[in-house]
Amino acid sequence: MSADDQKRISGEAAAQLVEPGMVVGLGTGSTAAWFVKALAARKLDIRGVPTSEATANLARDLGIPLTALDDVKSIDLTVDGADEVGPGLSLIKGGGAALLREKLVWEASKRCVVIADAAKKVDHLGKFPLPIEVVRFGHVHTGHRLADIAAEFDLLPPRLRMAERGVVVTDGGNVIYDLPSGVIAEPAALAAALKTVTGVVDHGLFLDLADEALLGTDQGVVKLVP
Ligand code: A5P
Repeated sequence: MSADDQKRISGEAAAQLVEPGMVVGLGTGSTAAWFVKALAARKLDIRGVPTSEATANLARDLGIPLTALDDVKSIDLTVDGADEVGPGLSLIKGGGAALLREKLVWEASKRCVVIADAAKKVDHLGKFPLPIEVVRFGHVHTGHRLADIAAEFDLLPPRLRMAERGVVVTDGGNVIYDLPSGVIAEPAALAAALKTVTGVVDHGLFLDLADEALLGTDQGVVKLVP
């Protein structure tokens, strides 16, 4: 089975968790897109809270009614992809530069389900460069401070994320620095250290947030819990 088929079956399985009347957090990325498509096909009476402009556009095109995070008290269920699924369902997210809205939506959710293809499951977080969202003003200086923290954790300095058209700018108008590492030995300590830096809006370490994972594998969808 291709990675995309694994993403599809995990997204389809997650769509079955949605019940009529729910407020549903809609994740971002290629796996979450499969979920949004499968959810739309069920034509349930739900409201979606998108985690990015891209997901909002997709959901609108498919006829899913949307609402804003601030217009709901809480979210019943959020389904979203991940770049890495590590021990205890610790995650790296933000490969699609949507980590800030994703984390805001996840933290407002009663239940968070991560969906992914089998290759995303890892023994240690860190092979995927850790995305860090930084405000644009003075971001080069913030990047230097991030490099200092990286050195304290035996990690390489972060790199400003670029695309063909230039610097990547997030939906929130910020930039992304990616922290290449190899192994993040102490994710909680690194997460705390990154949050001390003025200019850092947030980072892609999602720790103690996922309630379950639905992993698409060649043998079908495998459920993992922390
Ligand atoms: C978006 O910013 C990310 O957190 C995505 O959820 C993550 O990059 C997974 O993307 P894919 O589902 O496309 O692999």
